[in-house]
Order: sequence, then C-alpha cells, then structure tokens
Amino acid sequence: DTKALQVAVVGTGYVGLGTAIMLAYLGHQVVGLDVDQEKVEMLQRGELPIYEPHLDQLLQDSSSRLRWTTDYASAIPNADVIFICVGTPPLPGGQPNLAYVADAAQSIAQNLNGKLQVVVNKSTVPVGTGDWVARLIEEYAIDYHANRYLVVSNPEFLREGTALGDSLYPDRIVLGSDSPAGIDRLVELYQPLLDQQFEAPAYVPRPDGYTTPQLVTTSLSSAEMIKYAANAFLALKISFANEIAGLCECVDADIQEVTRGIGYDQRIGPQFLSAGAGWGGSCFGKDTAALISIGREYGYTMPILTAAVEVNQRQRQVVISKLQQHLHRLKGKRVAVLGMAFKPNTDDLRDAPAHDCIARLADLGVQVVAHDPVAMPRARQEWGHLRYQEAASAAEAMRGADAVIIMTEWDEYRQIDWSSAPRGMRNSLVIDTRHVVPDNCTMGVVERIGRRLTDPLAMQVPA
Ligand code: UDX
Repeated sequence: DTKALQVAVVGTGYVGLGTAIMLAYLGHQVVGLDVDQEKVEMLQRGELPIYEPHLDQLLQDSSSRLRWTTDYASAIPNADVIFICVGTPPLPGGQPNLAYVADAAQSIAQNLNGKLQVVVNKSTVPVGTGDWVARLIEEYAIDYHANRYLVVSNPEFLREGTALGDSLYPDRIVLGSDSPAGIDRLVELYQPLLDQQFEAPAYVPRPDGYTTPQLVTTSLSSAEMIKYAANAFLALKISFANEIAGLCECVDADIQEVTRGIGYDQRIGPQFLSAGAGWGGSCFGKDTAALISIGREYGYTMPILTAAVEVNQRQRQVVISKLQQHLHRLKGKRVAVLGMAFKPNTDDLRDAPAHDCIARLADLGVQVVAHDPVAMPRARQEWGHLRYQEAASAAEAMRGADAVIIMTEWDEYRQIDWSSAPRGMRNSLVIDTRHVVPDNCTMGVVERIGRRLTDPLAMQVPA
C-alpha cells in the first residue's frame, strides 16, 4: 500500500496540473498552488484551465485528495515534498526566464517548517539552477539553521495530448540530487509508479507489454542536463527527417518510405521521424534555444543543434512554396487551414507551425479561413494579431477555397471523406503536412512534405 505523503505543487500549468492530479490519484495528499487567483478559483470549482484528454476524469477521481490555493502559508509548512513547476518562458536572447522560479523559491523558503522537506524542481531549467535554488532558499529561509531541506531535480518527459499515459507509464523516472536522502523520499513518493502498484484508470489503460519504468538516479546537474539533451535529441531527429524530406523531393524519393526503411534499424528507431511543417510546441524551440545560449555563455558552439533550429525555420516555408507552385500568385486566393494547435489533442498554440503559415499567407494577401476542433477559442485570445477568419467546421473552411492545408493531424480530419473533392472547393488541392489523407486518395492533387510535387496540370476543377 502507498504511504501517503503530503505534497505541494507550485505552479498549475501543464506540468504542475498533471503532476498534482497524478500524485493525488496515486494516493498522496496534494495541494496545488498558483499565484493566479482566477486559475485557482477555476480549479476549486472543478474546472480545468487547459485541455488534456481525460485529465478532467482523473481530476474527479482524485478530488478527495486534492485542494487548490494561492496561499504559500497554507501549502508549504505541511508538505513533505514541494514541487516547483512554474514556467520558464524564453527571454529574447533564448535564455529561459527564471524569475518565476526565483519567486517560488523565495516564497517556499519563507514558509519552510524546519523539519526535513524536499524541494523538487520539475520546471526545465539550465544546469546549475538546482544549486541556485538551494542558495536562494538558504538566503530567504527564516531562521535558516532550524531548517533542513534538500533539493532534487526530477525532469518530466510527458507530451501534451498524451500526458496522462506518459505520466502513469513512463519509460524512466529521473531523480538527480547531491543528497541520497532527497532521492530516497522521491523514491517513496513514486513507489506506486515504480512498481506499478495502482489501479490503472479505465480511460488510460496500461500499454500492452508495459512493465515498470527504469529508475535513473544522478547528480543534480546531470538530471538537469538529461531533460535538455532528451528534448534536443528529439528535435534533432525531426529536423533530420525534414532535411532528408527536402532532398527526397529533389530526387523523387518518398520520405514516408525512407523513414519506414530506416526506422526498423533499432539503432535509429521509428519515432520522431515524421517529416512535416516543422516541430512546434512549448518545449523544443525553448529548450534548443536555451541549450545553445548556455553553450554561448561558455564560448562553446553547438553547430548540430543550431542547424536543427535552422532547418525547422526553413521547414515552415515549405507549405507556402508548394502552394505557390500550384496557384502561382497567392494574392486574393482563399485558403483553408485545418488545424491550429501545434499538435492534436491539445489546445496549446505555442510555437505552432500553423501560426507562421497563417501569418505568411495573410502577408501575401491570401484570404485565410482556419479551423481547429478545440483551439479556436484560445486562438481568439492569443492570435488577435493575425488576419484570418474562423470556420465552424472543416467543411465550412473548405467551401469556396482554392486550396486546403492540413497543419494538425486531428482525427476529425482523418475522418473526412477525401475520396472526392470536398464540396464546394474551387480547386481540389490539398497540402497535407501530416499525412492525414490516405495514400489511395484519388481526388485532385494531394501534396505532401517529402514527396515531389505532382504535375500541376493534374489538378481538376470539380464541376
Ligand atoms: C515534448 C517532448 O516529447 C516531451 O518529452 C517533453 O517533456 C516536452 O516536449 P510536446 O511538446 O508535448 O513534448 O510534443 P511532442 O509530441 O514531442 O511534439 C513536438 C512537436 O514535434 C510537434 O509540433 C509535433 O507535431 C512535432 N513532431 C513530432 C514532428 O514534426 N514529427 C515527429 O515525428 C514527431
């Protein structure tokens, strides 16, 4: 049986919310803290400030062990483990902004109880931040000599859209600390995950063949580096696939076939090799930029990573050039953009390739009609600077369009009958960046990333 610990989670963004709810589900007593009063009030009403599949159900199933507050004094003194999960958004130079981490460390320090408490950093922070947090706590703790606290780095690797499965059935749990007692407490906290002794929720079933996660214990700074290196490597893998995709287009090879062929090599592996409009989201851009900027501080260049970022920027223009090759002058044309979120099953718009696509099309004088199954309300708030119209459905977006661009592989778009030209399109031209349209589709022209452009004359204009 799980020994229930008292846990405080500071910051209720993606990482903090997921962590708080998951730990409560595993049997711990959890308080989630955020300085954003509005967010906390939402959570107190049982509402979620973000969309993540099944998180609402997990929240309901764990609610007896969860509470939400804005008050450090009510959250910190009782906690055995305190997680820092605040944001580290990039500054203009690429370095992460650590102001929120500093605020959290200071407020935590002022409320420590003098007994052994473990402060865990889950935010992605540059190597050395754990030490810096420890020094901040030392500085701000009231009556420091009475306080005993330990700092642990515990990076998370969950993906948005599959966050619950990734948290309950992780490949590995990384715990970095320079004190064994800190690691011991976290092992105790994660015991139900480490030996998978919890009832798997029906809505997030344990994957076939999954047994238990690897426990990786390291020094504080190695754990901090693991997070960056993991994300940088994944970003690199995708940029590599995108770079090869461009060459495939030149020599008339097909990237889908190529990545299938190389992915079976176990040293390469099939995942994160899908070519597309480039990676987006809150992590890859931020973490690659941060790593490059950390290197710069030491006069150390990172040519491979720098190139991966460059390829990603170039990749966002590929869609536009394919469109231009077919439609020539884009000014005055009407183009449907399907999918705005940076990937399916989330309403997260951060660094979404669709943003750059819409911005560029609008600059070129295109009339853009965009649709997303869940991200439109958020886009209304965050993309007010872009010129586009919203469509209530994919069908509505495509009506009268000269072309449709699929930017996010939502299931809903896979279910469209692509065997005939969508009704009312002026041209049956689809630019499919995510391989949503089936291969055997016979309608008009379907262009993909990493495959040579179809003869523009093949494009039929439906009657
Ligand atoms: C990522 C990491 O996967 C996760 O481990 C880390 O903790 C946070 O960052 P996330 O940003 O949620 O997670 O999304 P992910 O599924 O990794 O996708 C990132 C971007 O890469 C998306 O824009 C996606 O469309 C793109 N992608 C992914 C590709 O273009 N090709 C691929 O093969 C895979």
